[in-house]
Order: sequence, then C-alpha cells, then structure tokens
Amino acid sequence: MRTSVGIIGAGPAGLLLAHLLRQAGIENVVLENRTRDYVEHRQRAGVLEQNTVDVLRSSGAGERMDRLGLRHDGIELRFAREGHRVDFPSHTGGRSVMVYAQTEVVKDLIAISEQQGGTIRFEAEALAIEKADTGSPLIRYRHEGAEHTLECDIVVACDGFHGIGRQSMPQSLLRTWSHEYPFAWLGILADVPPSCDELIYANHERGFALHSMRSPQVSRLYLQVAPDEDLNAWPDDRIWAELDARFELPGWSLEHGPITEKGITPMRSFVAEPLRYGRLFLAGDAAHIVPPTGAKGLNLAAADATLLAAAIIQAHDKGDESLLDAYSETALRRVWRAEHFSYFMTTMLHRDPHADDFAHRLQLSNLRYIASSEAAAASLAENYVGLPVG
Ligand code: FAD
Ligand code: DHB
Repeated sequence: MRTSVGIIGAGPAGLLLAHLLRQAGIENVVLENRTRDYVEHRQRAGVLEQNTVDVLRSSGAGERMDRLGLRHDGIELRFAREGHRVDFPSHTGGRSVMVYAQTEVVKDLIAISEQQGGTIRFEAEALAIEKADTGSPLIRYRHEGAEHTLECDIVVACDGFHGIGRQSMPQSLLRTWSHEYPFAWLGILADVPPSCDELIYANHERGFALHSMRSPQVSRLYLQVAPDEDLNAWPDDRIWAELDARFELPGWSLEHGPITEKGITPMRSFVAEPLRYGRLFLAGDAAHIVPPTGAKGLNLAAADATLLAAAIIQAHDKGDESLLDAYSETALRRVWRAEHFSYFMTTMLHRDPHADDFAHRLQLSNLRYIASSEAAAASLAENYVGLPVG
C-alpha cells in the first residue's frame, strides 16, 4: 500500500493531523494497534486550551464540542482553607478553556474520518520504520495476522511514549531530558454533579487534590498518592474521606456519588530532541511527556499536529519545505514552555514527602502571590489557556 503521509497512532496527535491533512486534500493512512472501542474509551485528559478549541472549530471538528463542552473562565486555587479564583479572560484578552474529555475529541475525529472516507486501520501494529533518511520512507506493520508495508512520502510517529517512533531515530542524534516525581494521581469518575462550576486545585497537608468534571452529571476527581500506590488499598469510602479532607473549606462540601472508574496515572517530565530525522517526524507524547497538573499533555499533542499539518501542506502544495525544516525547533520552544508550566504547577501544589517545612512555606507564599498579584495571576492564566501556537 502507498500513501502520502503514514501516521502511527490514533490518539489526539495522529487523529488531528490526519484530519487537518484530509481537509487540505492530502492523502494519509493512520495505523493504530488498539481497537476503536479501546481508543474511544481510554480515560485521560479533560481540558482543552483555547488553541485546541480554535483548531477543532476552524477545521470543522468542533460541532459536538461546542454543544457538549463546558467553557471555563477561571480556576480556584485552594490552600490554607481558603479559596482564591484566578480569572482567565480578564488576564488574557478574552481567552478561556473548554472542559471536554479527550475521549470525546477522539470519538469526534474518528467519526469525521469515517464520514469523509479517511483511512484509520485499527488493530494494526507498526513494527518498524525503514528508509527514514530517504525520500521514500516506509512502515512495516502487522494487521489480521499478516505483515504489510505502507510506503509514504513522510512518516509521522504519533505513537505515544512507548511507541516505536522515537526508538527508530538514530540514538546518536537523539538527546533526552527527564524528571521523575515522588507521587502519582489516583483518578476517579463519579456519577454525581460537580460540586462547583469550576476546577479546584487544592494544596493540602495531606497532599494535592483536583476537582474537575466531564459533564453537568459527571465529576472527575484526583488525589495525590505514592508512585507505587496499590489501587486495591483505596475502597470508595476511603477515596471520598480523603477528598473531603483535602478540599476542606468552611461552608463548602463535596458531593459524593457512585464511582464508575478508578485508575492511577504516573507522573513524569520527558523531552526528546530533535523531532525529526530525514522524513520521519515525532509529535505528541512520542516526543514529550508532562505531569498532568495544568492539563498540557493533550494540548501539546494538538499543537504539534497543528504545526506539522501546516508544514506538510506548505511542502505539498508549494514545494516549500521551510516550515518542515523549522518544525522541530518551533514545536520544542512551546514544548519547553509547557514543560516548565507543568513542573511549576506540580511542584507548587503537591506535597513532596522528602521536602522540608521550608519548601512548604515557599509553596504557600507562591500561592498567596498568585492570589494577590494581578501580574502573577496573569502569568498563570496565559499559560493555562495556552500561549499562541507557532
Ligand atoms: P496517545 O494518546 O498516547 O496516542 C498514541 C497512540 O499510538 C495510542 O492509541 C497507541 O495505542 C498507539 N500506538 C502506540 N504504539 C503503536 C504501534 N507500534 N503501532 C500502532 N499504534 C501504536 N493529560 C492531561 O492533560 N490531563 C490528564 O488528566 C491526563 N491523564 C492521563 C492519563 C494517562 C493514563 C495517560 C497515559 C496520559 C494522560 N494525560 C493527561 C496525557 C494525555 O492524555 C496525552 O498527552 C495525550 O494522550 C497525548 O496524545 P498522543 O496522541 O500524543 O498520544
Ligand atoms: C483534568 C486533568 C488535569 O491534568 C488538569 O490539570 C485539569 C483537569 C481532567 O482530567 O479533568
């Protein structure tokens, strides 16, 4: 089989890239090793920054998001048993975020691909990327028990942190940076209306907690736990008691309800450079990981896809490769900004079991600074809603 752009991975990066290329009339094929049902139901991120909302809308993939998504104009920082709101539009020239689950973005992009005759091959595992340093790279993959070859002009690995894309780059070319955190998140979905209209990021002596949502009927909540935490040690009653303790605020209470899903998310920062070798490009988690605090992972994946789509379209339509040549550097500038913001939010809000009380006082001082300074609030707000792509 032959196509113009071979894409590995049907997560947000691969699906958005395929969609944007299809809108521009560029043929592409997505190979995904999981089933459609699996990728459509994998619980992950929930906050779309303004750029992600804009690209979905302008490319015709935002209809359901605009109907079902919840626009959020601020967040609450809760610490020392006080709540402080950070407003977004007033600090960012009117920008905001949309609470709309990654699962829904993925469903929408798959549905549009189906309607428009796009090719997504599920249960197709990419095994190797070959000839990346030539004008005709190829992907070897397994589908329905047989091995196949997909010949392309360009290969884009959107295959997540454990994919083969990054491993297929010459290791002598690749530089990597990583940082581990001494905690993880225990996340739940509960069939109970959110206890307030906005997200709450809580710094508490017992550890971080986050109040989020998926819809007016479904709450999404997270608790900081140990990196090696055993999920079995967390029956529902213990989870609610711990959430109650960490969100403690006079006159406020958390609504409880049936827990429908539980999981543990590890936390890590990671960046690989460069994002290109010959005709092979990396996008999304394949190249970089952020800890989830601040909700940047999905948005970085979408930003990479947006930049790369524009670069491929310019090369395809005009024979001008200048944007393709600049892709790695342009994308990485934004990636490092998001790496810093995610690290900043994570270290300001979590309790590091190895840190001393001095570190805790510094966290509280920083939180008070954001709560009381317009300049500090504006800095958080512009990073949270997302800096311009490109
Ligand atoms: P992915 O979504 O990982 O997609 C990669 C795809 O490639 C997968 O579908 C995979 O099956 C496929 N693939 C891999 N290898 C192959 C192969 N050899 N052949 C074919 N297909 C292959 N971010 C937040 O902002 N907030 C959160 O709360 C949050 N929670 C998360 C929870 C978990 C458990 C994880 C893992 C991530 C979470 N993230 C969160 C991060 C966010 O979901 C990711 O940044 C986002 O999914 C990145 O999109 P992607 O398309 O780059 O990669
Ligand atoms: C969600 C996840 C995040 O990492 C975050 O900072 C805010 C919300 C969520 O899953 O809803």
